[in-house]
Amino acid sequence: MVGTASSILQFKLDLRDLIIRRCRFEDIGGVIYVNRKTLPENYNEYLFLSMYRIFGDIFYVAIDRNTGRVIGYCMNKMEENTKSFFSRGVVTKGHVFSLGVLKEYRRRGIATALLALSMDKMYRKGCSEIFLEVRVSNKPAQKLYYKFNYRVVARVPRYYADGEDAYIMATLREDSEDIVKHVIEKISEMGVVVD
Ligand code: COA
Repeated sequence: MVGTASSILQFKLDLRDLIIRRCRFEDIGGVIYVNRKTLPENYNEYLFLSMYRIFGDIFYVAIDRNTGRVIGYCMNKMEENTKSFFSRGVVTKGHVFSLGVLKEYRRRGIATALLALSMDKMYRKGCSEIFLEVRVSNKPAQKLYYKFNYRVVARVPRYYADGEDAYIMATLREDSEDIVKHVIEKISEMGVVVD
């Protein structure tokens, strides 16, 4: 399914008083704080620092201009020479590794903006598909991913430490690029993206 006008029109973006930019070294503490507040999958500091060191150019944060604090992040990685979810071939995949937005900032389009920037960068760096894992119970996050034309490609039993299954959701570049570009255009007009 391609990004239709109707799916594009459903994006709501209220990004007032925010800066959205690539993660900097000094943001890592804030990212860890948001991760602990928003997700049960809490990695150690070393993991965040490694992701920043290796994949810093595809790691985005949202900052509240009034407080200077990180209030959301999208941490990603790229995987080369891996099996495609959509064909028999071997491809470069983007992996949305961890995404979170503090509760009091939700439903303003912040995750939409962070995800769009991340996907855009991963496509520009050569990914032909992007995937992620999501709890089968996490309907809010799944709704967000469906808007970007992700679809469920697999279910992994007991993927999470507490025994819950994961869906693997994935999208092809040609199925989501138009949507990503549309969101990027909208957020660029708002002047919230620094780099
Ligand atoms: N209920 C239903 N749909 C929801 C939703 C909710 N609570 N939250 C987001 N969505 C869907 C909606 O379609 C929404 O569009 P709408 O507001 O126009 O209806 C769309 O996603 C975009 O939402 P957005 O405002 O960009 O998301 P957000 O900034 O509120 O962040 C999460 C969404 C999932 C990142 C946030 O709820 C969160 O941090 N959750 C805990 C961590 C988590 O689940 N991370 C993802 C793990 S895979």
